[in-house]
Amino acid sequence: MVQVDTNDMRSMVSAFPNLLTEISITPHVWKTCEKLREGRIDGICIIGMGGSSISGLYVQSLLQDSVSIPIINVRETSIPSYIQKDWLVIAVSYSGNTFETIRSLQEALKRKCKSFVITSGGKLHSIKGVNEEVTLPSSYQPRAALPLIFSALLNLVEILTMHRPTDFTNVSEKLSDKVANWEMSEFSPKSMAADLLGYIPVFIGSQHLVPVAYRAKSQINENAKAMAFSSELPEANHNEIESFNSSNLDSVIPVFLRSSYETDSMRKSTDNLMQIYEEEGFPLLKLAIRSDSKIEEMLMFTFYLDLVSIELAELRGVNPLSVDKITKLKSMQ
Ligand code: F6R
Repeated sequence: MVQVDTNDMRSMVSAFPNLLTEISITPHVWKTCEKLREGRIDGICIIGMGGSSISGLYVQSLLQDSVSIPIINVRETSIPSYIQKDWLVIAVSYSGNTFETIRSLQEALKRKCKSFVITSGGKLHSIKGVNEEVTLPSSYQPRAALPLIFSALLNLVEILTMHRPTDFTNVSEKLSDKVANWEMSEFSPKSMAADLLGYIPVFIGSQHLVPVAYRAKSQINENAKAMAFSSELPEANHNEIESFNSSNLDSVIPVFLRSSYETDSMRKSTDNLMQIYEEEGFPLLKLAIRSDSKIEEMLMFTFYLDLVSIELAELRGVNPLSVDKITKLKSMQ
């Protein structure tokens, strides 16, 4: 068991590599997956909000090119009408009390869909009719539980779709090594946070780094309590590009997440886009991390940018743990 101070966001984020290996799919859940697989699965619908939804986006982007059924994500109070009884719905809510997730799951149960939940407890834990639950350790902030949720969710979907479940031991070790190198280098999370201070970052990613850019934006929002946005390529080449002009020079900083797995056309168009932004005078940042696989690349970027969000919180003098407004809004529902 990893020792983590769940009252300290830095401690939770620092535990990222270890948390990746914390959850294993029990033989019972594994068997249920195999049984479901023997029957018919028309698609997999992952439901969740905020910090609990991001793992689903990661899983979809990693597996969508190697599965024969759709994997979709729903961040809503209802599910699309085509999701019917032969779909598997996986509801993810760290607290188990998020009303959008509960509503969507209830709708899925009404339609007699097969269902799993991933939660640490709450109402989701006691909803009747769910096929299986993966139980998470309690007291984390949902967004800090990403490594726990992601590893469990990916393994579940891999088993359900006949992929060999990812063993996170290796990547966990590599991440632990990386952090020591980052701290020592000129690209430390602290120095990147200093570069972002005073600007609104726009994290720009393509392919499997689209959800990573979104995660970075969300972590800056929630941990550093700062404005941040994310955008996806090549779509942003057709609209957002026009907004990067001199009127935003003093406020916006584009942060390019560059992948070693970019297709040739993506590499070329992203290089061109960077050139255009540079010519406009933007102080752009380019991040690239050496990795041995797409999943490793996604997790390394995520861990690094999570650390950046903590450093930015510190520079801004805010507590990265609290999410008073989210809590207030939830209490008003
Ligand atoms: C808080 C956080 C939020 C929650 C969201 C949904 O750390 O990241 O984005 O994840 O409000 O709550 P849960 O995850 O409990 O379903």
